[in-house]
Amino acid sequence: MAMLVFYLLAFFLLVSTTCSSPAVLLKMEKKAAPYVIGGESGLAALRMAEYQRTPERNNITLKGNIPVLGVYYVNLTIGGQTIAVQVDTGSSNLAVPLHGCRNCHSYAYYSVTKSKHGKYLSCLSSACNCSSSSCYHCPSSGRYCSAQLPAACGFHIRYGSGAIEGPVVEDFINLGGLRAYLAFGGMLNSTPQFEPSPVSGIMGMAYKNLACSPNTFEPVFDALVNQANISNIFSLCLNRSGGRLTLGGIDPSINATDITYVPLNLANPPTYYRVNLGGSIVVNTSKLALPEFDVGIVDSGTTLLVLTPNSFKTLKNYMETNYCHIRGLCDLHSWWTSNQTGLNPCTKANASELKALPNITITVGGGVNITLTSEDYMYPYTHHGESYHCLGIMSSKGLSSLGLQAILGDVVIRKHVVVFDRAHERIGFAPSLRHCM
Ligand SMILES: *[C@@H]1O[C@H](CO)[C@@H](O)[C@H](O)[C@H]1NC(C)=O
Ligand SMILES: *[C@@H]1O[C@H](CO)[C@@H](O)[C@H](O)[C@H]1NC(C)=O
Ligand SMILES: *[C@@H]1O[C@H](CO)[C@@H](O)[C@H](O)[C@H]1NC(C)=O
Ligand SMILES: *[C@@H]1O[C@H](CO)[C@@H](O)[C@H](O)[C@H]1NC(C)=O
Ligand SMILES: *[C@@H]1O[C@H](CO)[C@@H](O)[C@H](O)[C@H]1NC(C)=O
Ligand SMILES: *[C@@H]1O[C@H](CO)[C@@H](O)[C@H](O)[C@H]1NC(C)=O
Ligand SMILES: *[C@@H]1O[C@H](CO)[C@@H](O)[C@H](O)[C@H]1NC(C)=O
Ligand SMILES: *[C@@H]1O[C@H](CO)[C@@H](O)[C@H](O)[C@H]1NC(C)=O
Ligand SMILES: *[C@@H]1O[C@H](CO)[C@@H](O)[C@H](O)[C@H]1NC(C)=O
Ligand SMILES: *[C@@H]1O[C@H](CO)[C@@H](O)[C@H](O)[C@H]1NC(C)=O
Ligand SMILES: *[C@@H]1O[C@H](CO)[C@@H](O)[C@H](O)[C@H]1NC(C)=O
Repeated sequence: MAMLVFYLLAFFLLVSTTCSSPAVLLKMEKKAAPYVIGGESGLAALRMAEYQRTPERNNITLKGNIPVLGVYYVNLTIGGQTIAVQVDTGSSNLAVPLHGCRNCHSYAYYSVTKSKHGKYLSCLSSACNCSSSSCYHCPSSGRYCSAQLPAACGFHIRYGSGAIEGPVVEDFINLGGLRAYLAFGGMLNSTPQFEPSPVSGIMGMAYKNLACSPNTFEPVFDALVNQANISNIFSLCLNRSGGRLTLGGIDPSINATDITYVPLNLANPPTYYRVNLGGSIVVNTSKLALPEFDVGIVDSGTTLLVLTPNSFKTLKNYMETNYCHIRGLCDLHSWWTSNQTGLNPCTKANASELKALPNITITVGGGVNITLTSEDYMYPYTHHGESYHCLGIMSSKGLSSLGLQAILGDVVIRKHVVVFDRAHERIGFAPSLRHCM
């Protein structure tokens, strides 16, 4: 089969779990979190606090798709300059390309000199501090100056898909009419094709401790909670061509009564949006135990459902035992493959043949069943006028080094409106019946 060209991206931060710091952040998370400690007065105080907060912003348009871009993105304004950034719940930094960036080949660039308030963070500044972080390249001195611009504080981040580095910049950002001043990464070097055009940068939406480094960077959402006074909750609605990001509340396309919340299984201190997965999935009507499927993350920056090689193999064996009648599934070069870079996981089997594939149900947090039909996990893709369906499940050897066993990427997230209720350390799912409209 011809080599198909598309992006399958995995934007989860690569951190080494051993050197992440337990120190920083919970303080800040707690301050922003309106916990109800109990009793009427607690509730009244919460209601009052909610009343005084800035109302949610739900006019933030997402664009993107699974094929061909593999990412979802929004327009972010930084220092008056508009740049499209990927919305990534699997990392915590904001980073955008600067003019002169090596390999960025970007659609848009940010310029400090074109901004009224923008400036490089000095490497001498006490804020340029990476001593208690999980960053790569953090020297023992605790001060990491930019390799490209040595007078400036530097950053260097590795993701599942690529790496970026450059100086740290400070400026005002504006998202949905909400404003905050923060430090972010100015990319002056990147691995090729870091983001697909027209996306230029990345906006991490996970917890502050995952930022590289947490002493220097306040993630965009944290900054908006602290400076623009929105509630500590955001929601994502993804559809086939885009969707909506809502800051400070829940998406207007759903009814609050339809949301099922389950607890987040956060690390201490919190990093990714981790959820319990219960060790098994349901295939058609049979429970299938997977060897590594206890804890996963909800990551809008990863395109597909990602399993460990062992879990993938278990599922593949099950499919070959029970669904061999589906064209090509049991072939030597089957499209049911974990190798997403070589032989393509795409088939010309037609829609009615694919209907015979089973539903796959994932139980999140013990309380929400996410059922993927074959239409969900076999996403349509057209190449040179030919129609294919491609497997939306892949395996990754790198997962266990993150202390994880699965990534619920866009293929899974898209089934629901997902409410990241950080204030209550829980995550909510509501069926996305209106396609975000
Ligand atoms: C922000 O919200 C708090 C309550 O959560 C309120 O007391 C305060 O006045 C608000 N500040 C602004 C600037 O709106
Ligand atoms: C960003 O803004 C440009 C120019 O106004 C517009 O064409 C584009 O559709 C916007 N993209 C998103 C994701 O809103
Ligand atoms: C820098 O890191 C050290 C060690 O974690 C900490 O004691 C110090 O307060 C930090 N400085 C700033 C400005 O964050
Ligand atoms: C969203 O609405 C706010 C308030 O009406 C406005 O200031 C802001 O520009 C809007 N943002 C977008 C992206 O349309
Ligand atoms: C996706 O959601 C956006 C935002 O609500 C909407 O404008 C668009 O029509 C939706 N697209 C599809 C294919 O449902
Ligand atoms: C939300 O759901 C409740 C209970 O099903 C129903 O009474 C209410 O009318 C719904 N609201 C909207 C706006 O659909
Ligand atoms: C799927 O489950 C249904 C209901 O139990 C059963 O009739 C059908 O045979 C199953 N399909 C396969 C391929 O096992
Ligand atoms: C994936 O397939 C390519 C091309 O066939 C091959 O070079 C590569 O080694 C394979 N990778 C794995 C992990 O099997
Ligand atoms: C799908 O493919 C099967 C097997 O090749 C064929 O029998 C069937 O007619 C096709 N169906 C459609 C709708 O094309
Ligand atoms: C698969 O799930 C869908 C949606 O939940 C359901 O309508 C359909 O009946 C299921 N199909 C099978 C074969 O169980
Ligand atoms: C989820 O699916 C399991 C297994 O099919 C079932 O036992 C359970 O009741 C379902 N839970 C919900 C909340 O639907």
